[in-house]
Amino acid sequence: MVNITFSESIGSILTLEKRAQLKQIHENLYSKKGKGSDFLGWLDWPSTLDQSFMEKVEKTAAQIREKADVLVVIGIGGSYLGAKAVLSALDPYFKNESALEVVFAGHQVSGEYLKQLLAHLEDKRVMVNVISKSGKTTEPAIAFRFLKEFMEKRYGERAAERIIVTTDAEKGALLTLAEENGYERFVVPADVGGRYSVFTAVGLVPIAAAGYSISDLLAGAANAEELYNNTNFDENVAAQYAAVRHQLYAEGYTTEVMATFEPKLSFVQEWWKQLFGESEGKEGKGIFPASVSFTTDLHSMGQYIQDGKRNLFETFLLVQEANEDLSIFEAENDDDELNYMAGLSLHEFNHVAYKGTSSAHLDGGVPQLSLTIPKIDEFQLGHLLYFYMLTCAYSAYMLDINPFDQPGVEDYKNNIFKLLNKPGY
Ligand code: PA5
Repeated sequence: MVNITFSESIGSILTLEKRAQLKQIHENLYSKKGKGSDFLGWLDWPSTLDQSFMEKVEKTAAQIREKADVLVVIGIGGSYLGAKAVLSALDPYFKNESALEVVFAGHQVSGEYLKQLLAHLEDKRVMVNVISKSGKTTEPAIAFRFLKEFMEKRYGERAAERIIVTTDAEKGALLTLAEENGYERFVVPADVGGRYSVFTAVGLVPIAAAGYSISDLLAGAANAEELYNNTNFDENVAAQYAAVRHQLYAEGYTTEVMATFEPKLSFVQEWWKQLFGESEGKEGKGIFPASVSFTTDLHSMGQYIQDGKRNLFETFLLVQEANEDLSIFEAENDDDELNYMAGLSLHEFNHVAYKGTSSAHLDGGVPQLSLTIPKIDEFQLGHLLYFYMLTCAYSAYMLDINPFDQPGVEDYKNNIFKLLNKPGY
């Protein structure tokens, strides 16, 4: 369960008018009548998942772990950030060398990165999972061209046994490649857009391959699915978060800064930025999603938040219980002058830092929300990511925007293709 607090009373935000608007959105969403409703496959996905699909994912994951030292996951945007977010949140900071290494490619175009990646793979057993819903996105296609050649040189005819493709069921160059070469295939459902696809094979194959419990992840998502399908908005935290965001936006707070005190959540922040930015930022509207990692960024961006242009609000993502911790111990001589904190755990220190930061920023004129999750594990992450997807849909609908398309991302692509003389452009 995500717990929400707001610097003002949430009750005062939930006016009769807002409640009526939320109710209408809720009805449109669940009866699949709103804008972009062809892309609502994610809404009941956690509770309706086919067991045989989970078994197929688990089987493939076990094979990856058996046959590979490194899994290269190729994808960008929604075909990258979900798995990256969950893995970064769950992986230890310093990984045991015997564990499967999951690396990403195709999420940028860096020759230096790709060259160094290929060199890194040289003496390792490798498998590749290339992910693209459209099957024609340039960045992953470029990376796959290099990885495919690497795999064919290394494994000859058996390369095909080490390449897994996750793409649309019916169309795209990647599908053709998979069919021609006999690669194992997973489908990105037609009614689930990239940034809403973390609970499909897009996210699940890499997450399961890394050894994490996808059943727990989906149980968390299913729990959120059930909990937030609720028109009692005094209880529905997903609707409340959307309502507060919308109210602040109407008051001129056009930037939301998501702040955490958990470095492991930095890619949850990246995933969240994509989800909200790409879903809401349309038709000259939308809150600009930004992120900071505290206490690190208190020594940099903290200045702006405290004192800069007053168009931002801050949403803390807090974690109640640390998975591991250390306490500050009493030193015999107190040369570093820290004995006054003896007995305080570092997690407790961060909580104090949160309280101090929150009230300083509030005094500086920054409205504050906080979302608290009990801990970081598969179940809670599943719950949190589903919560964000739902609240994002609510938020976009409150601005009368289709949350599920991204017409704006085509413009730059067309320009690049024209500049490169791509046939047809
Ligand atoms: O959310 C989205 O739809 C996008 O971010 C896509 O995920 C991203 O552009 C990658 O697309 P594809 O999976 O078709 O390669």
